Amino acid sequence: MIYLYSAQDGERYQHLLQQALPQHQVCCWPQPVEAAQVSYGVVWNPPAGFFAGMTQLQAVFVLGAGVDRILRRDDLDPAVPVIRLSDAGMAQQMLEYVLYGVLHVQRRMDQYQRQQQHRQWQAVAATAASETRIGVLGLGEIGGKVAQALAAMGYAVAGWSRQGRQLPGVADFVGEQGLPALLARSDILVNLLPATAATRGLLGSELLRQLPRGAALINAGRGEQVDEAALLGMLDSGHLRFALLDVFVVEPLESVHPLWSHPAVLLTPHIAAMTLAEPAVAQIVANLQALQQGLPPQGLVLRERGY
Ligand code: GLV
Repeated sequence: MIYLYSAQDGERYQHLLQQALPQHQVCCWPQPVEAAQVSYGVVWNPPAGFFAGMTQLQAVFVLGAGVDRILRRDDLDPAVPVIRLSDAGMAQQMLEYVLYGVLHVQRRMDQYQRQQQHRQWQAVAATAASETRIGVLGLGEIGGKVAQALAAMGYAVAGWSRQGRQLPGVADFVGEQGLPALLARSDILVNLLPATAATRGLLGSELLRQLPRGAALINAGRGEQVDEAALLGMLDSGHLRFALLDVFVVEPLESVHPLWSHPAVLLTPHIAAMTLAEPAVAQIVANLQALQQGLPPQGLVLRERGY
């Protein structure tokens, strides 16, 4: 049996999965099931205890790209394979989101917005794409596609990853030693790293200070990678000119949080790259069939690596 948890789209996923896998019984939370009968979980942020008693669980398919929360759970046997979505339509959405932020900065929309409030008609010298230096943290399925597409649009793109990745038009910066050089040449820093022990709190004052004065930050990775107090300090001092933020340490962002009303912040409620039901289900079905044939699934998470 496949047991599904999606707070918002349960029925839709149940229908799509059942259609694609008629030989399996697909049940959807909160429908009560016999935990020991569950062979596969298909989930996004299920409630605590969800996996309790699932002694026959063969794999968990995550309805998203990030697996930080699922790996932290104490009700899931660490021996059970966890499989995340790889791209499944998210890279294109992420590119759109990042491009929006890049254009906001490069075409000075923040400045023109302020001018409009004062009915001020004043052109400011433009910055060419080729002079706009973008640094992308994380060159996985999503970050890699974003970096490559921005480079193809003519931006001066550099990418940073643990092990390095050669991508057409993207300058490659690798590991701890490569980070300061990437930061020093990033007018716009884009965080698309997975949340792991190594990236938690990475974007603190130490790192943000190394960006050129007047740089911008786009964070569509995970909130806990950013020290929000340090970020606010950098925005207040003008060291950073602008931040486009999709993810936060606490979500939903608390109504009293100073980021809501900061004039240099544009924020969105974790929507940069949303899971698209059809490609997600197609990938899960293909992976489930691969597992049943003893073949390696796409997007298998390595627990020790954290993604
Ligand atoms: C969204 O944040 C995801 O991890 O898919």
